[in-house]
Amino acid sequence: MKNKTALLFVITALLALLLGILFGVLAGLQYLLPDFVKEILSFDRLRPFHVTTVISWIILCATGGIYFYISNSEKLQIFSKKLTQTHFVIFIATGIGIYISYFTGNMGGKEYLEFAPMLILPILIGWLLFGINYFKTLVGKVANWPVYYWMWGTGIIFMMYHLSEAYFWLLPYFRENFIKNLAIQWKAGGSFVGAWNMLVYGTAIFLMAKIKGDDTIGRQQESFFFYFLGLTNLMFGWAHHVYIIPTEPWVRYVAYGISMTEWIILFHIIYTWRKTLPTATKIKYFLPYKFLVTADIWIFLNLILALLFSIPAINLFTHGTHITVAHSMGTTIGINTTILLASVLFIVSKVNPNFNFQRNQLQWGYKIFNVSLLVFWISLLLAGIKKSNWMYFTKGISFSKMQESLHWYYCVFLLFGIGIFIGLSLIVIPAIKQLAKAYQAKEIL
Ligand code: HEM
Repeated sequence: MKNKTALLFVITALLALLLGILFGVLAGLQYLLPDFVKEILSFDRLRPFHVTTVISWIILCATGGIYFYISNSEKLQIFSKKLTQTHFVIFIATGIGIYISYFTGNMGGKEYLEFAPMLILPILIGWLLFGINYFKTLVGKVANWPVYYWMWGTGIIFMMYHLSEAYFWLLPYFRENFIKNLAIQWKAGGSFVGAWNMLVYGTAIFLMAKIKGDDTIGRQQESFFFYFLGLTNLMFGWAHHVYIIPTEPWVRYVAYGISMTEWIILFHIIYTWRKTLPTATKIKYFLPYKFLVTADIWIFLNLILALLFSIPAINLFTHGTHITVAHSMGTTIGINTTILLASVLFIVSKVNPNFNFQRNQLQWGYKIFNVSLLVFWISLLLAGIKKSNWMYFTKGISFSKMQESLHWYYCVFLLFGIGIFIGLSLIVIPAIKQLAKAYQAKEIL
C-alpha cells in the first residue's frame, strides 16, 4: 500500500469514537447519579474528556480519509510518507498529553480546548506538516481541482489560523477587554467547527463522486457555490452564535442566513445524488450509501431546530439549556459522524472489495444507531424545554427539584446513549478488524 499511515489515523479515530462515547455515557450517568465516580472524575473533567475525544474522532477520521484518498484512491504519489508518520506520532503524543492534563486537573484552557494551553503547539505543528504534505502532493500535479480538493486545502489552512486565534486570549490586548475577548473566543470556536466541516463536507462530496463513479458532482457549479458559502460561513458565521454580544443586528442576520443556506444546499446536493444513483450502486455500497442518506436526514432535522432557536425571541429561552447540547450533538453525531462512517466503510470496501455490507450484524448496528440517536436527541430537546420553562416561567422551585423532575428524561437519554454505543460498536469493531488486517498486509489497493 502506498500510505499505510492513513489507516492508522482511521483506526485510531474509530477507537477514539468508542472511547469518547463511553466518556459521554459516564457523563450522562452523572446527570442521574451526581456522585458517581465523582472523586476520580467529576463532571467538569468528564465533559472535556468526552468532548475532546469525540472531536478527535472527527478530526483524525477526516485526516486519515484525506491521506488515504489522495495517496491511494487518487493514485497520486504522496509527497512524504515520513511527514505523514511524524504527523501521526505528534497527534498521538499530544492526545496522551491532553489526557494527562485533564486527569491531573492541569487544565487552564478555554471551552472545548480546556487542556494545558502549551499543548496547542504540537497540534499546530501537526497541522502544518499535514498542510505541507497535502499541498506538495497536489499543487502542480492535478489540473482543474474538483471542489473537494479546495475544501480539504481550505480546511487545513483555516484550521491552523483559527486554532491559533483560539489562543489570542493569552495576549493582554485581547484578555484585558471583556467584549473583545469573548467575541474572539466565539469567533475562533465557530470557525474551528467551520474548518472541520470543510474537511468533512469535502469528504461527503468526494464519496458521492466516487460511489457514483461520476466526477461531475465535484466540478458542478452548485458544489462550488456550496464551497464559497461554507467559506463565508467559516469566516463570518460565528456572529449568530453570540446574541449576547453587542454587534450590529444585520451582521447576525447575514451570518445566520449563510449558515442556513449552506445546509439547504448540502441537503439538496445529497438528495439529488441519491435520486440519480443506480440501484446496483446502492447495493454495492450499501452501508456507505445508507450513512450518507442518514446524514441528509439529520441535516434536515438540524436545519429545522436551528431555524427555530436562532430566532432571537426563542434563543433567549434556549440558551444554557439542553437544547443547545441537542444542537451540538445532533450535528456532530447526525451529520459529521454519519458522513465519516460512510467514509470509513468506503475505505473498508477498497481494502477488502469482498466485505459484505449486508451482514446482519452491520444491519442491526445501523438500525439500533438510528433509532437510538433519534430518541436520544428528542430526550435532550424535551429536557431543554422543561429546564427553560423552569428558568423563565416558574418561581419558587429549587434547582434540585427541577433536576428531580428531569429524572426520566435523563434515564431515556442515558439508555439511548448506550444504544448509540451498542449500534456503533456493531459497525465499528468489524471495520477496525478489516483496517487492521489491511495495515498488516504487504500490499493493498
Ligand atoms: C459520536 C458520538 C458523540 C458525539 C460526536 C458527541 C458530541 C458532543 C459534543 C460536541 C458535546 C458538547 C455540547 C455542547 O457544548 O453544547 C457533547 C456533550 C455531552 N455529551 Fe456527547 N457526543 C456523542 C455521544 C454521546 C453519548 C452516547 C452520550 C451518552 C449518554 C453523550 C453525553 C454527553 C453529555 C452528558 C454531554 C455534556 C452536556 C452538558 O454539558 O450538560 N454524548 N457531546
